[in-house]
Amino acid sequence: MTSSEIRQAYLDFFRDRGHAIVPSAPIVVKNDPTLMFTNAGMNQFKDYFLGNKKAPNARVADTQKCLRVSGKHNDLEEVGVDTYHHTMFEMLGNWSFGDYFKKEAIEWSWELLTSVYKIPKDRLYVTVFEGDEKEGLPRDEEAATEWKKWIAEDRILLGNKKDNFWEMGDTGPCGPCTEIHVDCRNDEERKLVDGKTLVNNDHPQVIEIWNNVFIQFNRQKDGSLVSLPQKHVDTGMGFERLVRVLQGKQSNYDTDVFSNTIAKIAEITGRKYDYSDSREAIAFRVLADHIRAISFTIADGQLPSNTGAGYVIRRILRRAVRYYYSYLNYRQPLLHQLLPVIAQQFAAVFPELISQESFVARVIREEEEAFLRTLEKRPAPHR
Ligand code: SER
Repeated sequence: MTSSEIRQAYLDFFRDRGHAIVPSAPIVVKNDPTLMFTNAGMNQFKDYFLGNKKAPNARVADTQKCLRVSGKHNDLEEVGVDTYHHTMFEMLGNWSFGDYFKKEAIEWSWELLTSVYKIPKDRLYVTVFEGDEKEGLPRDEEAATEWKKWIAEDRILLGNKKDNFWEMGDTGPCGPCTEIHVDCRNDEERKLVDGKTLVNNDHPQVIEIWNNVFIQFNRQKDGSLVSLPQKHVDTGMGFERLVRVLQGKQSNYDTDVFSNTIAKIAEITGRKYDYSDSREAIAFRVLADHIRAISFTIADGQLPSNTGAGYVIRRILRRAVRYYYSYLNYRQPLLHQLLPVIAQQFAAVFPELISQESFVARVIREEEEAFLRTLEKRPAPHR
């Protein structure tokens, strides 16, 4: 399946189960002082979870542009160095606002992964919350019981508060979660080392793809948890990881989500991407990743600047410039040349980029020029 087909299959699956398909919220958050950028699909629904507003649809699904580069969820330093973290990524999500709960959420995630996407069952592991005494939270027996209907018991693992209790930020909606992990190693490696020992252990081939959160609490400023009037479901699946699993690749960057951008970088710089951990290969990945974050954030109304959200974007852009300047030996503005590829690729799903393509390219180019002038002025390092 192409990445577009994979995205569509997700939305169709939940549409068939009574979900309204809604658009992604902008990546830049303007109306929530606890957040600069959308860091999860559920952000735009915060008021429904907290009971401040009534949801027009009790079931929704979408693909949400997310950015995890600041605050509680920050993956920036991993990006490019590894092959499965991103600054901007798409999160496929389905939600229940006081409607279905653990039974359906678990059943549907299993059905989608194993029957629609046909991921072999013996490559999947799930984790459930083991409870936390200090917080006064019990083990999530209900989730474990639901999973036992579908997956062998020795593939159901317990996880602690860090991995299995999801919170949006320091305050706000939260709850225990159950995660689904896929073991993408080859058969030989799988025989040698039991996959369950690698879950949540930073193994590049044993990765989390989907998190099902059961939102039941509101974390207060004083750290206490207050139960919400209703129980909700908030799921998030990493689209780029899912595509990588389904396309049988070793790295998110080897899928059709990134391959056109990587090819364009090779064409511009005259270098070859060699899939390795070399600085040069990392530079390819950093550029292919960062251009998405930068472009979509500008398209959603946040210009690079010296403060706040604008400064975060400027730093991401400069990180990318440093990589091509230092490791691809490219000394002219490069990022803006990638815009046509990205804009075209996302034209159907996020049309806001193609409709502002020349504006976004101009902003990026000006930023690149200014920063390259600064880099050129630096004295050469001592030899
Ligand atoms: N909010 C959860 C997460 O971001 C699930 O969508 O992982």
